[in-house]
Amino acid sequence: MTLVPGTVRPRRLRTTPALRRLVSETRLHPADLILPMFVKETLSEPAPLTSMPGVVQHTLDSLLEAANEAVDSGVGGLMLFGIPEHKDNEGSQADAPAGILNRALTLLRDNLGDTTVIMADLCLDEFTSHGHCGVLDSAGGVDNDATLERYASMAVAQARAGAHVVGLSGMMDGQVAACREALDLEGFTDVVVMAYSAKYASAFFGPFREAVDSELQGDRKSYQQDPANGREAMRELDLDLAEGADIVMVKPGMPYLDVLAEVACESPVPVWAYQVSGEYAMIEFAAATGAIERERAIEESLVAFKRAGADAILTYWATEVAQRLTSETPGGAR
Ligand code: PBG
Repeated sequence: MTLVPGTVRPRRLRTTPALRRLVSETRLHPADLILPMFVKETLSEPAPLTSMPGVVQHTLDSLLEAANEAVDSGVGGLMLFGIPEHKDNEGSQADAPAGILNRALTLLRDNLGDTTVIMADLCLDEFTSHGHCGVLDSAGGVDNDATLERYASMAVAQARAGAHVVGLSGMMDGQVAACREALDLEGFTDVVVMAYSAKYASAFFGPFREAVDSELQGDRKSYQQDPANGREAMRELDLDLAEGADIVMVKPGMPYLDVLAEVACESPVPVWAYQVSGEYAMIEFAAATGAIERERAIEESLVAFKRAGADAILTYWATEVAQRLTSETPGGAR
């Protein structure tokens, strides 16, 4: 059977690679990619993570090397996570000037200056012995307001150490206001507050526990959001904006693209998304068995974030993808 003349044929725009490129609605650019990196105290060699093939816990030396490689590839920025040798109830290494995260920030800032954007995770779970994102009250619950004081102190310590951006990922109420105020009082008015506005109590953070040597006691359901709730994300967004967030984030990524799309529609500030450890692991392990094509799956997943409205994406593949984009694009990255 032949279609009648004049039939609408959407396939027409898909006929050649050049046409498809010309009508593409969404493009990945190296500068949209942010590389999360782990640095661990007392390591003598980088330590590969079994749950995240291709990702390591860095020494300070290997961190700097990998940071240089990422910057050379054109990625937009670096997000640091620190793993201290000594963990305790208060997470005292988090705001210690000589703590591993703050030392790593200084190392990168001294070496890279303003050539990239240096960011740090601002949360206590990497530093506490119980693995929670805050300090505990006498009943063993996470004490919101006592935690805010710790976060404020961390924000100032990270700013002093050289962070351009602090990434508030703890999901405590009032955390943006507390950190903004502390930064401003210490004169760090130019340090950017990036708020994980919608952050869910997610199974997709699984491999991250190995990455930060965390033995979480219990779960995070009393502070991270219920995966069943979308509307609640808009309330978190409104609060973070009112408290002065400069950038907002949705996390995890792929299972929450609906939330990302809604936040991206409403937000007057940049919106980022985090393709988390479990999303990385799913694609790596599926590709390792031959079930899916690795590079295509990675790029499709990243384009999906852009299509949903993300301005930038934190992804453990940032350097690899940035390198590929630069080498594949005629005339270099656009
Ligand atoms: C909190 C934090 C977590 C991640 C980033 N920041 C863990 C959590 O909230 O449970 C997870 C990132 C990932 O899974 O890749 N410090």
